[in-house]
Amino acid sequence: MDVWKEMKRLHVEQVVFCQEEQDGLQAVIAIHSTTRGPALGGCRMWMYDSEDDAVLDAVRLARGMTYKAAVFGLPYGGGKAVIVGNPQTDKSAAKFRTLGRFIERLQGRYVTGVDLGTTVRDMDWIRLETAHVTDTTGTIMAAGDFTAEMTAYGVFLGMKASAYFLLGSGDLNGRTVAVQGLGKVGFLLCGMLRDAGANLVIADIDSSRVERAVKAYHAKAAAPDDIYGESCDIFAPCALGGVLNDVTIPQLRCKIVAGAANNQLLEEIRHGEELEKRGILYAPDYVLNAGGLIITACELQGLAQADMKRSVERVYGTLLQVFEIAQQEGLQTWQAANRLAEQNLLHP
Ligand code: NAI
Repeated sequence: MDVWKEMKRLHVEQVVFCQEEQDGLQAVIAIHSTTRGPALGGCRMWMYDSEDDAVLDAVRLARGMTYKAAVFGLPYGGGKAVIVGNPQTDKSAAKFRTLGRFIERLQGRYVTGVDLGTTVRDMDWIRLETAHVTDTTGTIMAAGDFTAEMTAYGVFLGMKASAYFLLGSGDLNGRTVAVQGLGKVGFLLCGMLRDAGANLVIADIDSSRVERAVKAYHAKAAAPDDIYGESCDIFAPCALGGVLNDVTIPQLRCKIVAGAANNQLLEEIRHGEELEKRGILYAPDYVLNAGGLIITACELQGLAQADMKRSVERVYGTLLQVFEIAQQEGLQTWQAANRLAEQNLLHP
């Protein structure tokens, strides 16, 4: 891969390669943009097959963070760190402390946090070397499931906004929602939907999670492969990316897709068009699932927990704004979200 070319294509500001022989750290820090403020984005640990895969993952994820922050007009940019290694067997305090020193040298241009494969304990190690880290012990994000709860809350409000825009009412009472994935976000989301009077159809590959949700919320269980074809008002992907594709879209019997999973459209243009052709409204994932980022921004600004919840409520209005841009400019909804983010990047 030509790193310069890729950086130019994705408009990446800076890529830092980190290496330390004694503790074996190999990491990449990608800073996509600091136009609106310091680049925020967690630290992922993963067994990448190649150096190219690690760099590409870092720059693409960093770019996603820029757009997520910008669409909400947050005073932050996007960044991401990736450590090459097995999160089960290759961790050490020394490695994370070394990464902390690399982050410290960036003098606040990049702020890290928990992501796939990393934990609060890892952030505590980084914290020994730099203040530019979130999700450490004692922070609100590190306590319990607050981040997942705020992500679920944002998705719930996004569903209401989508229903309002397409169906004329944001009231979810009596609506049917099919939730795919009953993990941290999906399960909490089911509780919010149930409280709002929605009927639930659920699926997970882990049958104990299905049983728990059936018991707690009187939900109807569907087999993992059958959830796409369930007749419902809203289909909520809360498990994996790429679930809107050539195989699944023809099965959909919903009016709206609104869920927490990242990168739901396998191919943005083609699969976005397929949904549009079928009259299905797609709520762009990165607008819906921004609750975690919004509360991180709140924490960095020293806001109280109650104010954080109010900040997450911006998902509702921002999503409506995205739908209106899409309608006025003849864009797909994900393109409209990008348009709004890019406008905010041009006018920080
Ligand atoms: P999680 O790992 O706690 O839960 C995922 C659930 O999906 C698990 O119960 C798993 O068994 C299930 N699953 C996996 N494959 C499945 C399949 N084929 N069919 C049905 N169920 C399947 O993850 P979490 O934290 O709940 O996140 C859900 C999604 O939302 C992920 O895509 C994540 O990237 C995204 N997200 C999460 C945020 C958070 O605050 N946790 C923030 C932003 C996005």
